[in-house]
Amino acid sequence: MGEIDPERLIAAARTAYDRAYAPYSHYQVGAAVLTDAGEIFTGCNVENAVYPLCLCAERVAVTKAISEGAHNLRAVAVVTRNGGTPCGSCRQVLREFGAPELPIFVADVSDHYRTYTLAQLLPDSFTHTDLKQA
Ligand code: THU
Repeated sequence: MGEIDPERLIAAARTAYDRAYAPYSHYQVGAAVLTDAGEIFTGCNVENAVYPLCLCAERVAVTKAISEGAHNLRAVAVVTRNGGTPCGSCRQVLREFGAPELPIFVADVSDHYRTYTLAQLLPDSFTHTDLKQA
């Protein structure tokens, strides 16, 4: 397993950012996930005239990765115009496939970025272990 390269992951997310379909909010989001197998999958937000059907970029990227056979996430990058962090629903979906230590690089379009762990964005998370009988 190689080192995590934040710049490379952010560049992939930036490519996805440019593909965002956001004619309603005009808020483009690009995401890229690095899997435990070393593959990168990208996603952008995909909006719909029926607003609740809008898909977040992070969940598009995760869904692409898992549906292509990935099992675990090693790192995530997200690009927005202003460095906005992933929404609560996306944080929970990332937790399904990522450890609390999962690094999340949150970049703006100038490629400035902050690094979070998933635990920082989603402390005391609910997971499959909570579903086990006591
Ligand atoms: N959006 C994302 O793609 N990811 C997030 O974590 C936050 C919000 C999208 C959804 C919608 O297309 C637009 O940003 C405005 O909410």
